[in-house]
Amino acid sequence: MIIEPKTRGFICLTSHPKGCEQNVLNQINYVKERPVKNGPKKVLVIGASTGFGLASRITAAYGSKAATIGAFFEKSPSEGRPASPGWYNSAAFEAQAHKDGLYAKSINGDAFSNEIKVQTIDLIKADLGEIDLLIYSLASPVRTHPDTGERFKSVLKPIGNTFTDNTVDFHTGEVKEISISPCTEDDIKNTVNVMGGEDWQMWIDQLKSAGVLSKDFKTVAYSYIGPSLTEAVYRKGTIGRAKDHLEATAFKITDALKDIDGKAYVSVNKALVTQASSAIPVIPLYISLLYKVMKEQGIHEGCIEQIERLFNARLYAENLEVDEAGRIRIDDWEMREDVQTKVLELWKQATTKNLPEIGDLKGYETDFYNLFGFKVQGVDYDKDVNEMVSIPSLQ
Ligand code: NAD
Ligand code: NA
Repeated sequence: MIIEPKTRGFICLTSHPKGCEQNVLNQINYVKERPVKNGPKKVLVIGASTGFGLASRITAAYGSKAATIGAFFEKSPSEGRPASPGWYNSAAFEAQAHKDGLYAKSINGDAFSNEIKVQTIDLIKADLGEIDLLIYSLASPVRTHPDTGERFKSVLKPIGNTFTDNTVDFHTGEVKEISISPCTEDDIKNTVNVMGGEDWQMWIDQLKSAGVLSKDFKTVAYSYIGPSLTEAVYRKGTIGRAKDHLEATAFKITDALKDIDGKAYVSVNKALVTQASSAIPVIPLYISLLYKVMKEQGIHEGCIEQIERLFNARLYAENLEVDEAGRIRIDDWEMREDVQTKVLELWKQATTKNLPEIGDLKGYETDFYNLFGFKVQGVDYDKDVNEMVSIPSLQ
């Protein structure tokens, strides 16, 4: 079929297998030239199909020839209906990894459930024996608690006061004011339940009990901080509480891993266009200004550049630098004072009329479409493609 983008708000209902494949191949090629010395060998990535998790899987596999198991929750294709992009990404990754002689298998289902945890542990036992790295890169709006069956929904709201500021609808380029009313106490609890550290800890507990964590095992979960501009909706809002919880969980996990000299880290990553971040109000305007400034300064990075730097300059470097709160920072370039001063200056001026010039609205839009395999260079979108692509290990 011929597949075209069908957008609704900040989501796209279709995705293109060839474009997704090309994105994955581009990331593989980037990492191939930047090997990771003393990198991981047996890796589990939770949230491995898109964004930072996919980049982590690719960096482990192609940076240090690691065997990877990728867990994710994606929609398979049906006749005339394309799969979700993470499905096509994972299909392309596995197919290429197998061609290159790398072990790669996938697990598709709800990673919050006990069932998926058991299935993953069984696969590790059968094929790898143990893992030396677990990357936790889940981003989800909902979580069903595995023990109680209770379903939690996360929200993106400020705490305490109504927040009013500008945002952009990047489809129309319109800059407009939005107001978000403050959350309830329940909203905080629910968001922490979904995006906090409880599930990460459950994974580690169960993997450890099963005896599948190697000595010197490492685990990393991803967080975000950002500037004061977005603080009210992000770091000091409901999602920020969840990230506080996630960051606190790293210390608890490290304690629980003492006997195997294991370590848990949180890495604070840069703001990037992903399916998760395009849903957050105000962030699209911030990102389009940030991209402009960082591209001008030659320090712009996408997911793969960020994660390759995380592995090479932090996680597997001789000295692992962390901040005063024990966090790894690869948002260091985003947070540079000169960058933030410039972004703030532009923020104050931004209007519908001037944003295409003072901001990188095009870059934002291109990145958004790329997430779904559209507007990818070198892909012929007029050509018929087979939407019924399968993931080799899931056949
Ligand atoms: P993403 O939407 O690209 O990836 C989410 C992944 O989680 C996908 O692989 C998806 O299949 C998987 N997933 C979702 N629900 C699942 C479930 N129930 N079971 C199994 N898998 C499930 O998101 P992302 O932006 O790469 O975010 C990953 C992490 O990075 C998040 O913790 C996010 O907060 C953090 N982060 C993101 C940014 C950013 O700007 N995008 C910046 C810093 C940190
Ligand atoms: Na991810």
